[in-house]
Amino acid sequence: MMDGSSSPLMELRNVAKRFGDRSHDGLKNINISLMHGETLAIAGSSGSGKTTLARLVMRLTRPDEGSIHLLGQDITHMGGGALRRMRPRFQMVFQDPLAAFNPRANVKRILEDPLRIHGFASKSEYGDILAQTLERVGLGTQYLQRLPLELSGGQRQRVAIARAILTKPQLIVLDEPVSALDVSVRAQILNLLLDLQAETRVSYLFISHDLAVVRAFANRMIVMEEGRIAEEGYTEEVLANPQANATQVLIDAVPRLVI
Ligand SMILES: Nc1ncnc2c1ncn2[C@@H]1O[C@H](COP(=O)(O)OP(=O)(O)OP(=O)(O)O)[C@@H](O)[C@H]1O
Ligand SMILES: [Mg+2]
Repeated sequence: MMDGSSSPLMELRNVAKRFGDRSHDGLKNINISLMHGETLAIAGSSGSGKTTLARLVMRLTRPDEGSIHLLGQDITHMGGGALRRMRPRFQMVFQDPLAAFNPRANVKRILEDPLRIHGFASKSEYGDILAQTLERVGLGTQYLQRLPLELSGGQRQRVAIARAILTKPQLIVLDEPVSALDVSVRAQILNLLLDLQAETRVSYLFISHDLAVVRAFANRMIVMEEGRIAEEGYTEEVLANPQANATQVLIDAVPRLVI
């Protein structure tokens, strides 16, 4: 196998996904490459296909056409044990972690489950790994016994990030990771994600409809419209000189003082 550093970490070629026969739904002709250590933002209005794209990359669903390569392997139709073995290397953080957590599992169990499922460490190491990971996301071990509902939105998202980084992934898909958070907490979480990337060279596929956040976070961006890529390029260039109507619509939605 090739060393991953010069070839893309992830590559989507001509990917299409249909939901029923409604022509505006799903995805069409999606081509994306993501390099190691890079952040690519996926912007686009509601219903443009961003979460569908995230679910395809995570192989929570299969494409109808095209191929998905991750770390030099074709995962388009991968299943069973082969896909499970790949799982630790790509993780996802959702907009609403409450929906992604078992409400009855405390933080300890939320974080131990992936270690156990992927056989990532021996049981005697769990305590140390959990303490280190919680500290890394700015939480102490006193949170281990808390249930998701007993955490603030920002703390919950920190736990979601802790869970995502436990298995040392090369790719994290972030689907609107800060849009449910208070503006002051937003910056803290984004800074945490930037620090983690500087340390580990993890790549981010960063979904957001908020261009102020995209500008601060991603050097390259894609704008989706009705399941297609309407525009792509370096974030600064796309925002300074938008070519697609879909991009202009997003720009117009940002308060002028912010952008
Ligand atoms: N499982 C599904 N079955 C049928 N249609 C679906 C399914 N998932 C998504 N869709 C449709 O595909 C389109 C894209 O949905 P998607 O969730 O990807 O949008 P989005 O860009 O993430 O929107 P938002 O910004 O609101 O989260 C929508 O029209 C949606 O109704
Ligand atoms: Mg979505």
